[in-house]
Amino acid sequence: MMQIIEAPKFELVYKPQKYKKIHGFFDFEELYQEAVFNAKDGAHFIEIGAMMGKSACYLGECIKESGKNIRVDLIDLWDCEEDVTAIPTFDYIVPYGEGQTAYHEGFRMVGYPVVQRKCLNTCTNNLKKAGVYEYFNFIQYDSKYSHVLYTDNSLDFIFIDGDHSFKGCYEDLINFYPKVKKGKLLAGHDYTKKGQPGVVMAVDSFRKSMRLDLYVYTNKFNVPFYFKKF
Ligand SMILES: C[S@@+](CC[C@H](N)C(=O)[O-])C[C@H]1O[C@@H](n2cnc3c(N)ncnc32)[C@H](O)[C@@H]1O
Repeated sequence: MMQIIEAPKFELVYKPQKYKKIHGFFDFEELYQEAVFNAKDGAHFIEIGAMMGKSACYLGECIKESGKNIRVDLIDLWDCEEDVTAIPTFDYIVPYGEGQTAYHEGFRMVGYPVVQRKCLNTCTNNLKKAGVYEYFNFIQYDSKYSHVLYTDNSLDFIFIDGDHSFKGCYEDLINFYPKVKKGKLLAGHDYTKKGQPGVVMAVDSFRKSMRLDLYVYTNKFNVPFYFKKF
């Protein structure tokens, strides 16, 4: 009988700091720490939905501290419209929830010129500044086509935080599940009915059709989750 289970606690071992300066939505510390802690040299991770690199930076800092040889592919369209060539300071962003920040005016910084496809530069610059750039490959591509880049059972950890619609999230789950190795995690963000009903519908449809247990962090603002591949 498949169940929804509270994810076991993981005592944090690494101490990332620099990610705090990057704007974003991040509250999956335990998942990223556990993924790095359990990984072997040569491991290959992917993160779908990097935006400005907040969660990626956290992951990179953990990898650096671990001294392990872990490669991470970041998959994102990076097609946001705000001028993200101007890196926001804490004066422009406000706390939004645990581990998260938002601009005063939502996603747009009033008064800044709008420049398309600059988000990728912001992400790479943020990761360079934090000294973790070397761990990442940047794949500016729609996630719904990106699974073809990977062979089945080849990835050590997948995190999905990209398209939050039902269709987009469901396709990511279905397309990427075969790519993760047996015993490893396919994880994601926003299993929260109030905030992201599309993600909840997608995750529930996926877990029912695959007959999988779902692990959730209900103590976190945006409820990270994972499935273990069998
Ligand atoms: C919620 S943000 C990710 C937040 C990030 N993990 C952080 O730490 O702040 C979602 C990201 O997914 C990307 N995205 C949305 N749909 C996508 C798609 N179909 N393919 C690739 N990336 C997508 C967006 O460009 C955006 O940067």
